[in-house]
Amino acid sequence: MSDTLYVETQGCQMNEHDTERLADLLVTEAGMRRVDDPESADVLLLNTCSVREKAQEKVFSRLGRWRRYKEQRPDVVIGVGGCVASQEGAAILERAPYVDLVFGPQTLHRLPQLVAAVRAGAGAQVDIEFPEIEKFDHLPAPRALGPTAYVSVMEGCSKYCAFCVVPYTRGEEISRPLADVVAEVETLAVQGVREITLLGQNVNAYAGRLRDGSSADLGLLIEAVAQVGGIDRIRFTTSHPVEFHDGLIEAYREVPELADFLHLPVQSGSDAILERMKRGHRAAEYEALVAEIRKARPSLALASDFIVGFPGESEGDFSQTLALIERVGFDAGAFSFAYSRRPGTPAAELSDEVPDAVKRQRLYQLQVVIGQQQMAAAQRLLGSSQRILVEGPSRRDPREFSGRTSCNRVVNFAGDDSLVGSFAEVRITETRAHSLRGEVVACERPRARPGSATQGVQIAVTDG
Ligand code: SAM
Ligand code: F3S
Repeated sequence: MSDTLYVETQGCQMNEHDTERLADLLVTEAGMRRVDDPESADVLLLNTCSVREKAQEKVFSRLGRWRRYKEQRPDVVIGVGGCVASQEGAAILERAPYVDLVFGPQTLHRLPQLVAAVRAGAGAQVDIEFPEIEKFDHLPAPRALGPTAYVSVMEGCSKYCAFCVVPYTRGEEISRPLADVVAEVETLAVQGVREITLLGQNVNAYAGRLRDGSSADLGLLIEAVAQVGGIDRIRFTTSHPVEFHDGLIEAYREVPELADFLHLPVQSGSDAILERMKRGHRAAEYEALVAEIRKARPSLALASDFIVGFPGESEGDFSQTLALIERVGFDAGAFSFAYSRRPGTPAAELSDEVPDAVKRQRLYQLQVVIGQQQMAAAQRLLGSSQRILVEGPSRRDPREFSGRTSCNRVVNFAGDDSLVGSFAEVRITETRAHSLRGEVVACERPRARPGSATQGVQIAVTDG
């Protein structure tokens, strides 16, 4: 009988993507069967996040529950991966001795061997190295799970923002060769994928090797991906204002497949705080960059990340953040966080911590302002026609279908299964708290597989 596998993910899109890839590997290489119920699984893996303290604490409460399953069935294998694993390593075994294996974000491809070693009685296994991007050569061919897919193009981060654990948990930036990324996109396109999100912790630092030994930036990679038959929409996440090269701005001007959306974290509007955060740019430089990108793509929707309550942040610093938000306009929303002290990062040594109550108050204030901007942007979409990639039935109501606009808004509408995987023109009729509603006015004929004579976009008009 094959082992059953349960994997739980915490944290960012990279972790979600890593989870899918490691599960695929254990299914194809180790013959495991994936299940949704942890209580019945033989192998339990937790892919963890340590960006904020809260996330890290969740790890041990989850492991505590899994320990009970192991007490009932001692053969159960418990593994911890991701950023907490990378940071804590063997220390996890001290706090939770019932854990059998600890693997890092760069060693998940070795899981079949690690599980086999545990099963063979070799004791607890810890493997949290940062081997040179070898993992991509050892993962099975990607499997499409729908019309959209993630593709990792680089790993790690070398920016070393003072507050952030990522460079320590995921290692320095390292990019996959351009041809490897394009080949992966082709494999997905053949399976019906229409939209690709290029993933990296700091994705605009992409520097992929070309066959002639030179290196390609993200703009060039986007152009190459846009050439792949069937790929009609490209996104990338997440970027940093430094190393946002001209080639990438050019891609916003020249590549229609590149979506009208950009997630560009700024963290703060105060130069003093940006400097303490070691972000490598000032507020005015961020604004100038946004202006340049908007010139290349006037329809761009902008999202960002903010941290409030970084050590030493005064009321004056915080009002500069609010002022920047007013000036720039974040029409696609923002991820905002109260600063969380992470041991091992340079900011953890700073003494002038902001009290929790102040952090909460600032977070609330910031979210109100961003919420208003986001709502106003949604109102502007009312009555417009948006090109939606139909992803599947809506989560709330299975009679409804759901997809995203180029500017990354979720839209729900009445439809049927034949639309899934196609682009539809949808007129926006209503705005809701976290989504839009609309009605289909035209849709592309279901797409034939690349290479067939009928490939190509044909719009058939239907009644709205
Ligand atoms: N580059 C990736 C990105 O932007 O998604 C990863 C950066 S980090 C995992 C994502 C966001 O978490 C950062 O932009 C920052 O706003 C936030 N963050 C990172 N460290 C933090 C900390 N110590 N406290 C609060 N927020 C933090
Ligand atoms: Fe973290 Fe800054 Fe890199 S937020 S992931 S160190 S760009």
